[in-house]
Amino acid sequence: MDQPSLDRDELRAGIDHAAAWVEAYWEKVASLPVRSRVKPGDVLRALPEHPPTTGEADWGAIDRDLDAIVLPGLTHWQHPMFFAYFPSNISPAAIMGDVLSAGMGVQGMLWATSPACTEVEMRVLDWMGEALGLPQAFLFRGGGGGVIDGTASEAAVGALLAAKGRVLRALPREARREAATRLVVYASTQAHSSIQKAAMVAGIALDADDHDRVRLIETDAVYAMRPDQLAEAMRADLAAGLRPCFVCASVGTTGSTAIDPVGEIARVMREVPNDGASPTHQPPPSGREGSVWLHVDAAHAGAACVCPEFRRLIAGVEHADSFTFNPHKWLLTNFDCNCLWTQSPRELTDAMSITPEYLRNAATDAKAVVDYRDWHIPLGRRFRSLKLWLVMRRYGVEGLRTHVREGVRLAEVFEGLVRGDARFEVVTPRTVNLVCFRLVPRTGELPETTDARNKTLMESLNDSGAMYLSHTVLPGVGGTPARYVLRMAIGAVQTREAHVREAWRLIASRAG
Ligand SMILES: Cc1ncc(COP(=O)(O)O)c(C=O)c1O
Repeated sequence: MDQPSLDRDELRAGIDHAAAWVEAYWEKVASLPVRSRVKPGDVLRALPEHPPTTGEADWGAIDRDLDAIVLPGLTHWQHPMFFAYFPSNISPAAIMGDVLSAGMGVQGMLWATSPACTEVEMRVLDWMGEALGLPQAFLFRGGGGGVIDGTASEAAVGALLAAKGRVLRALPREARREAATRLVVYASTQAHSSIQKAAMVAGIALDADDHDRVRLIETDAVYAMRPDQLAEAMRADLAAGLRPCFVCASVGTTGSTAIDPVGEIARVMREVPNDGASPTHQPPPSGREGSVWLHVDAAHAGAACVCPEFRRLIAGVEHADSFTFNPHKWLLTNFDCNCLWTQSPRELTDAMSITPEYLRNAATDAKAVVDYRDWHIPLGRRFRSLKLWLVMRRYGVEGLRTHVREGVRLAEVFEGLVRGDARFEVVTPRTVNLVCFRLVPRTGELPETTDARNKTLMESLNDSGAMYLSHTVLPGVGGTPARYVLRMAIGAVQTREAHVREAWRLIASRAG
């Protein structure tokens, strides 16, 4: 075979071919079973154990394998009847951004290794922050700044490392190592597991069960963190000689999109005395040294803030040190794309900056530029902001609003249908586009029997291939038992009202 090269004809033919494949996929996706039916190992067994020795010049056999092996092994997240987890939006604009990024093939670890890769990202993060209504202090133009990570989980690790650094740097160097063993993280019982995982990665929690170092704070009747319980836990930890370090407020919990009250959380953090000297949390911009970091995890629901009417969800965000959300869930941007902003970029970079000789360059040495390798764990990074740039240019903030509002409207429609059927109940208030509902208990029915009926209903719907829902278990409120709950998350790009109504017809017809 010839030596591989950047052959233009091959590129053009390949892109045309791949675009045709995707186009055909979008055409037929609605007719495929939403959830993949393959069994564990099926895909693996269909693939040769050893790599090909000679290359293939055309698409013939590859196409056949895409259709015969890959397609059946897909769960179709772009199916209009996909309502599980949270959506994972895509759009032609975002796809073009990824294609361009791949074609440029630049590596933006330093400003100097591709200035545009850094500066487009900086500008797009300011645009997106403004679109969400974040205070100026989170934007580059206000002294803060943002970065694109792969996921909210990575953003949580970055924010936690910055928090850890802040608390420890306030201490004499010789006291830091020992103090590092006494740091404590706080999040609600409903927070995403990525917070516990971040604490494990940051060396704060021993493991997934270590709740001496990750306190899971009780929630109220609508599954939002109780600030009074947070204050109590922080006080108890301080009294025991521990060091509160990081609080995560969830804006849109994974289970039910409950909204932790960010402003109230910041207020109680300010009131809890830190070692009797300074408040544990000090609002920006003054006196943050040693204070507890407040991170807002708005992975899914943050997207709604492009609409002014939903900005109440993040009331108090001006008191937070960092804020994160995923355009890759509900904002038309292909996975992976997570935005993290902080009012204290310096603390984030202090936590992760290290400059070996081979990365030194004039711009870095002059401290004249943003080097994004200092803003997260990886050194290398691709030009991920291109897809967000294209999405924002193609749809504008108004286009994003239209998409979000339609998801919310369809969730309202669905909620109304559930409420109109006495066999069902809406379990907790809907915040944006997720409806948590279930079959109500029959008279005298044991809670586990109600749970089992709900599970059976969900499995029969998912097995049918016609739609895909997921579930969670929400804790009981006021002494009632925990409940198995069905989650209907609406926001896939191809979902229309007719799909939502059809989903309800299927649910109601199988409800018994
Ligand atoms: C509230 C919340 N935080 C964090 C995550 C983790 O997201 P990622 O896959 O971007 O790490 C999720 C995922 O659904 C989530 O709902």
